Amino acid sequence: MIKFTLNGESVSFDGDPQMPLLWFVRDIQNMTGSKFGCGVGMCGACTMHLNGAPIRSCSTPVSVAQGATVTTIEGLASAPAKAVQEAWQKLDVVQCGYCQSGQIMSATALLEGNAKPTDADINMAMQGNICRCATYHRIRAAIHDAADRLAKEV
Ligand code: FES
Ligand code: FES
Repeated sequence: MIKFTLNGESVSFDGDPQMPLLWFVRDIQNMTGSKFGCGVGMCGACTMHLNGAPIRSCSTPVSVAQGATVTTIEGLASAPAKAVQEAWQKLDVVQCGYCQSGQIMSATALLEGNAKPTDADINMAMQGNICRCATYHRIRAAIHDAADRLAKEV
């Protein structure tokens, strides 16, 4: 039996331990904010946090979550997460939206570990998140905006 914490709630799974974590979250827990894109860890649409670090849940077996804390877009609640979401709205980052859950998860993880990222830091942290609508410039601006918001709160 695999047991872990998902968005603050205890969950368990008695099925195939190799099943992708994304399937468990979307199909069994019915949390559909995390998206399926490539299925092979190359696009970032499925990004979640495992003990605070961004992971590609499409290519992470559910067994890896044993005893861990998993957070999805539905469970984001930290101050950096709030700042990111406000900045995303202010700068109207989203186009089609499909990649954006993953973008926000990666951006939040970046700001949780680095309150004042440079463009190079942002490029490094976000390079695995593909946006077919090419919202990259707005994403970068929004991350800087979120960092500025957080600095004002301190
Ligand atoms: S769907 Fe997971 S990285 Fe593309
Ligand atoms: S907003 Fe359309 S893929 Fe990123």
